[in-house]
Amino acid sequence: MRSKVIVALLFLISIFCLGFSNVFASDIDAPTIYAEKCALCHGEDGKGTSAGIGFGTKDFTDKEWQGSRTDDEFVNSITHGNPDNDNYIPFGDMLSEEEIKAMVPHVRAFAH
Ligand code: HEC
Repeated sequence: MRSKVIVALLFLISIFCLGFSNVFASDIDAPTIYAEKCALCHGEDGKGTSAGIGFGTKDFTDKEWQGSRTDDEFVNSITHGNPDNDNYIPFGDMLSEEEIKAMVPHVRAFAH
């Protein structure tokens, strides 16, 4: 009888933990943000769509170029755009700081 109570308790505890893990896990979905807001210019494969390349996008799969840019520069560019390039829209008003930071590893992953 007692063991049944323990099993039931463990079961309840595990459900409780599962529910809670969502609270701690980040719910930022970088791939969805990329598909909705970035792929238009940067392409699903990171190489840039023809429209994007016309605007001056860089090839995200180019390791050498990736190496020439820091994470902070990426965050800054995504937030404020490029003052020298009007075609680069700033995303600071559309995405939160956390979301913008989450995009950096997503962009980096194209060159892996
Ligand atoms: C309207 C087209 C367009 C969209 C949409 C767009 N970008 Fe860009 N992106 C550009 C262009 C053009 C550049 C090149 C800017 C430059 O260096 O002149 C660029 C450059 C970048 C760079 C390199 C910045 C650097 O400092 O070298 C990153 C990273 C980047 N974009 C990420 C993103 C992310 C993430 C999104 C979606 C949230 C996005 N872009 C949406 C056009 C776009």
